[in-house]
Amino acid sequence: MPAVAVIGAQWGDEGKGKVVDILSEHADVVVRFQGGNNAGHTLVVGDETTIVHLIPSGVLQGKTCVIGNGVVVDPWVLIGERDKLRARGMLVEDEQLKISDRAHIIFPYHRAIDVAREAMRGGAALGTTGRGIGPTYEDKMARDGIRFADLLDEKSFPDMLRDSVERKNRYLTELLNGDAVDFQSVLEQCAVVRDQLAPHVTDTSVFLDKSLASGRRVLFEGGQGTMLDVDHGTYPFVTSSNTVSGAIATGAGVAPHRIGTVVGMCKAYTTRVGAGPFPTELHDEDGKRLQRDGSEFGATTGRPRRCGWFDAVVVRQAARLNGLHGLAITKLDVLTGFEKIKVCTAYELDGERIDCFPAAKAAVERVQPIYEELPGWDETLDRARSLEDLPKNARRYVKALEDLTGVPSFLVSVGARRRETILLRNPFAS
Ligand code: GDP
Ligand code: IMO
Ligand code: MG
Repeated sequence: MPAVAVIGAQWGDEGKGKVVDILSEHADVVVRFQGGNNAGHTLVVGDETTIVHLIPSGVLQGKTCVIGNGVVVDPWVLIGERDKLRARGMLVEDEQLKISDRAHIIFPYHRAIDVAREAMRGGAALGTTGRGIGPTYEDKMARDGIRFADLLDEKSFPDMLRDSVERKNRYLTELLNGDAVDFQSVLEQCAVVRDQLAPHVTDTSVFLDKSLASGRRVLFEGGQGTMLDVDHGTYPFVTSSNTVSGAIATGAGVAPHRIGTVVGMCKAYTTRVGAGPFPTELHDEDGKRLQRDGSEFGATTGRPRRCGWFDAVVVRQAARLNGLHGLAITKLDVLTGFEKIKVCTAYELDGERIDCFPAAKAAVERVQPIYEELPGWDETLDRARSLEDLPKNARRYVKALEDLTGVPSFLVSVGARRRETILLRNPFAS
C-alpha cells in the first residue's frame, strides 16, 4: 500500500495540519519525522479549534500517531498535549501514540541556550521559536544528545544527564550570560517523564515496516516548510532539520521507495514568521490586508506573520526538491476582494532573469520579483465544494499556479474548517 507525504512548500504554516487531518480519514498511521514543537498545526472541526505541536494531526481521526526518530521531543510539552487530548477522549490506549526510542530529548538547558543565544545575537537574531530545537539537533550531530532509549535506562541515565547539565551550564553561564539549570530538579522531573512516556517508547522503524508490509496506509506529516530546510532553505534563516520529503527516510526509518505520493502544501499567497529573506514580502496595504483577512499570527508563538504574493520560484524549488505529485493550495478565500492579484514568476538579479533561488545570502537579498498580474474576484468562497463552484477568476488563478509550478492541484482549501475543502484527488487512491 502506498505511503503519502504532506510537505510544506513555502516557509511553513501552509495549512499542513488541516490537510493531514482530512487525509487521515484514509490513513491508518500518521507520522511526524522531523522538527519538534516549533511546529504548530491547526485543525478546525466545526467550531472547535485544536493546535498540535508534536502529536501528528491524524489524532482527531483516531489514527495511530507516531513520533519518529528524526523528531526532537520536549517530553513536558508532549505529556501536556497528550493529556489534553486524553481529556477529550483521544489517545486513550497507550499504543495509539508511539515514540521512537531513537528520538532525541529536548531538555530545559536546550531551551535556555536557544533563548540566551537569540538574545546575544541582538539585531541579528534568527527569530527562532525559542523551543530548544536548534541546540538539541546540535547535540545530536555532535553525538552528545540523550535519546528516549537512554532515558529508559535507569542505571546509566543520571550520569549521562549530570555530565550534560555540567557542560551546558558552563556554556550557558560563561559564554551566553544565561542562568544555570539545576541538575537535581531536572533529574527528578525526568523520573516523572519516564513513568509517563515509557509505555509509548518503541522501535518505530520496525513498527512502520510491519505496518506497510501488512498493507496499512501511512501518512507522513512534515513540519515547517521547504524554504526552512537546513540545506535547501534560506540558510542561515532556517530551522535545524531537513524538512524535505527525503528526510522521511532518515527521520522515520523507512526506505525511500516506500514513499508513494508527495503532496506539497502552499498558501495561495506567501507568509513567513521569523527573520530572513522573503522576496515577495509586501510592506503596504495589500500585505496588511493579507495579514488581517488571513489571521496571520503564528500558531506556536503568536507572532504576526509577514505576508506577500505567491512566489512560483519558491514552489517550483519545492516541487523539484520534494518530487511533488500534487499541490494542496490553502487560503484561496483570503484573496477574495483583491481587484488584481500578483504572482511572482521569476526573479531579476543584477539585471538578469533567474528562475531558481540563489544560495548566497547577499544575492537573495538583492533579487527582485518579476510579477504577472491576474484578475481578482469578489465572491466569498467558503461554500465551494468543487472547482465549478468557484468564480471564473478564482479557477483561473488556481490554474495559473498549476501552470507556473508544473504541479497539478489535488486539493483547494477555501476556509479553515475541515469541510471548507475542495478535494480533487485523493492521494491514497493514486
Ligand atoms: P501548518 O503549520 O502548516 O499546519 O499551518 P498553521 O496551522 O500554522 O497555519 C495555517 C492557518 O490557516 C491556521 O490558522 C488554519 O486554521 C488556517 N487555514 C488553513 N486552511 C485555510 C483556508 O483555506 N482558509 C483560511 N481562511 N484559513 C485556513
Ligand atoms: P509549522 O510546522 C513557520 C521558523 C521560526 C524561525 C526559524 C527557526 O507550524 O509550519 P526554530 O525554532 O525552528 O529554530 O526557528 O524557523 N519556524 C517556523 N515557521 N512554521 C513552523 O512550523 C516553523 N518552525 C520553525 O520562526 O524563523
Ligand atoms: Mg504552523
